Amino acid sequence: MSGNRTFTMIKPEAVAKGYAGKILDHIISGGFKVIAMRYTKLSLQQAMDFYSVHKERGFYTELVEYMSESPIVVIALEKENAVADFRTLVGATDPNESNEGTIRKRFAESKAKNAIHGSDSDENAAIEIKFHFSDNEIFA
Ligand code: CMP
Repeated sequence: MSGNRTFTMIKPEAVAKGYAGKILDHIISGGFKVIAMRYTKLSLQQAMDFYSVHKERGFYTELVEYMSESPIVVIALEKENAVADFRTLVGATDPNESNEGTIRKRFAESKAKNAIHGSDSDENAAIEIKFHFSDNEIFA
């Protein structure tokens, strides 16, 4: 059975360009309920820990330096079939391959600076929500 929670981050370049409000509106209009949210900045170590699954990839250093360079918005979301539906709303990793009307098609500038993160499985959604939020910060 698929879960009902996912995790997202509005990434540094999207926040810096002033897109956070429009992206949040896109998410809520897509039927997702915000159950926890914070405006924050990751340390390099936090970015390395969060993306440790990618540590062998060629883009890892670029990714973690970028993700810790300026503020982000971290959000836990709830909806039936949350992980899959959110990935559809967000679009492909590379904005050149994203469908029209997706968040990345609207707001991403490149594969690395792709505006927003979305959990790739129910298991990782639970891990990522726990990484950023304690139980008493979640209002479901
Ligand atoms: P995200 O959904 O946050 O999960 C892993 C991130 O790695 C991904 O979005 C991209 O921002 C980044 N990424 C994936 N592939 C590449 C790549 N080829 N070059 C740079 N960054 C990448």
